[in-house]
Amino acid sequence: MCGIVGYIGEKKAAPILIKGLKKLEYRGYDSAGIATIDNGKIAIKKDIGKIDDIEKNIGLKSLDGCVGISHCRWATHGKVSRENAHPHCNFEKNISIVHNGIIENYTELKNKLESKGFKFCSETDTEVIVHLVDSYYEGDIKEAVIKALKEIDGSYALGLISSKDPDKLIAARKESPLIIGIGEKENFIASDVPAILNKTNKVIYLDNEEIALITKDKVDVFDINGSKIKKKVHKIEWDAEQAEKGGYEHFMLKEIFEQPKVISETVEGRISNDEITLKKEIGLTKEEIKKIRRIIVVACGTSWHAGIVGEFMLEELAKIPVEVEYASEFRYRDPIIDDGTMVIAISQSGETADTLAAIREARKKKAKIISIVNVIGSAIARESDIVLYTKAGPEIGVASTKAFTSQLIVLYLLTVYFGSIRGFIDKQQVKNRIRDLRMLPLQIQSILDEKNYIKLHAKQFYHKKNALYLGRGINYPIALEGALKLKEVSYIHAEGYPAAEMKHGPIALIDKEMPIVVVATKDNRTYKKVLSNIQEVKARGGIVIAIVTKGDKEIGKFVDHNLYVPKNSYILTPLLAVIPLQMFAYYIAVMRGNDPDYPKNLAKSVCVE
Ligand code: F6R
Repeated sequence: MCGIVGYIGEKKAAPILIKGLKKLEYRGYDSAGIATIDNGKIAIKKDIGKIDDIEKNIGLKSLDGCVGISHCRWATHGKVSRENAHPHCNFEKNISIVHNGIIENYTELKNKLESKGFKFCSETDTEVIVHLVDSYYEGDIKEAVIKALKEIDGSYALGLISSKDPDKLIAARKESPLIIGIGEKENFIASDVPAILNKTNKVIYLDNEEIALITKDKVDVFDINGSKIKKKVHKIEWDAEQAEKGGYEHFMLKEIFEQPKVISETVEGRISNDEITLKKEIGLTKEEIKKIRRIIVVACGTSWHAGIVGEFMLEELAKIPVEVEYASEFRYRDPIIDDGTMVIAISQSGETADTLAAIREARKKKAKIISIVNVIGSAIARESDIVLYTKAGPEIGVASTKAFTSQLIVLYLLTVYFGSIRGFIDKQQVKNRIRDLRMLPLQIQSILDEKNYIKLHAKQFYHKKNALYLGRGINYPIALEGALKLKEVSYIHAEGYPAAEMKHGPIALIDKEMPIVVVATKDNRTYKKVLSNIQEVKARGGIVIAIVTKGDKEIGKFVDHNLYVPKNSYILTPLLAVIPLQMFAYYIAVMRGNDPDYPKNLAKSVCVE
């Protein structure tokens, strides 16, 4: 949802900005640009397209100067065009700005500024900020920024430079993410950590309505009234290598293959001597855990699918009623939250605007909020009472893969922990559940090792126009997730459905052109019923690709294609079943000539509502 990188130091800014921007391209890739201060003047280069192409066409790197801002765009206001690409500047070209977010009162501000003679040259909401700052400038750039921000409604992360004050980089944020990286005789701003990881692991998280005045040696942070604030410097544990492709063709593939390691790392430190050791992280007393009468999960997209798997886990093992809500819808009802209700927010980025808005709504109603988040220090993490971090490392591929499985692991640990404290799981059962969990990394590795077999299947289906994904019970959300993955990266229309619901409508779509992907792993709950659903598909000529349990001899005669997963407990099956579906979607996307890391129209971290 737009990426920002800024630099101030003793080195040439442009190459550093380009490198950082490339790490943020997952946030927006329809246009990009850089502004630097060179010899007392602002120089700007920008264009539509991906950064590598822009670099080839107009040579961003050639910009000189040791202070600069840069941006990769995911269009909100104004079409994809060179004029609408950032950075934007004022008429005299002595102030330049990059922005991520939405200025809600921009029409009003634009009319006001135009009536004062300010000329606009783009259709963006961003441009009002730079003219507004210009209109307030009376010799102090920080004061002008503060005055401008006070007039703005909406969300912003912004970087600003001015040739009137060439040794400063200004940053500000409200609702959109922005961090400051602290270096040696150099400092950075960025929308996300991977952009600066190869330069520093020391960061300051800007909070809402904070403004930073940054020089190469110093960072001063102020509130919206100009009072200085003391900020903590955090150390990031991720290393720069984690944000590289590491020999894989795409981040998505690398991240799919990282899952065995990610699962081990998410579990590490949370199990000891056959016990789940979440006590310290969660900080709730036994009595508080026993008093939970209901959980509401709020999340979006893939994280929402993780929430539905969590619903099955928590209801079955911890006996807590769970409702899973689209975060974007949550606050448009009048959700009933009493003192027995706990809210769990699930988010990879920790910055999803809808999820953030949902937890704020829940907080207004005095709910306790646990968040399951991947990005340390992100807004959702900071606004939660309890944070359980997934340890997936930076997820760069726009389609979420490893974050999803790590979210399921945290939900499982939380479930077993709550279940044991609430008296529904005894010591031996906890031990067994942990044993099952420990089997996962090797089991997932064995699925990944079958990549050529999965690729072969992708080859048979990559030209299809539609697909239906079916699953039942705890694997129903996996059908949803499989369909989402396919449509995101391959642009094939795909629907996920609870298998039995198919006969209430979607069955009308089935013919020999329609591949039906069915999660049909063997268990003593839904397996037989799923076999019946498969026969209903076959009777109508549909082609069935089934996710089946290794060694299942029965299912072969009903389906056209099998993708195998090893056997584990029913509750952990989603963690296995999703892997071939991620790979299937990835290979189909590549065979169709798509770049799965940059699916069209999508951006990671959706920071607008
Ligand atoms: C799908 C995907 C999105 C995200 C959703 C929520 O592959 O990545 O559906 O899951 O935008 O994002 P987070 O988890 O960052 O809140």
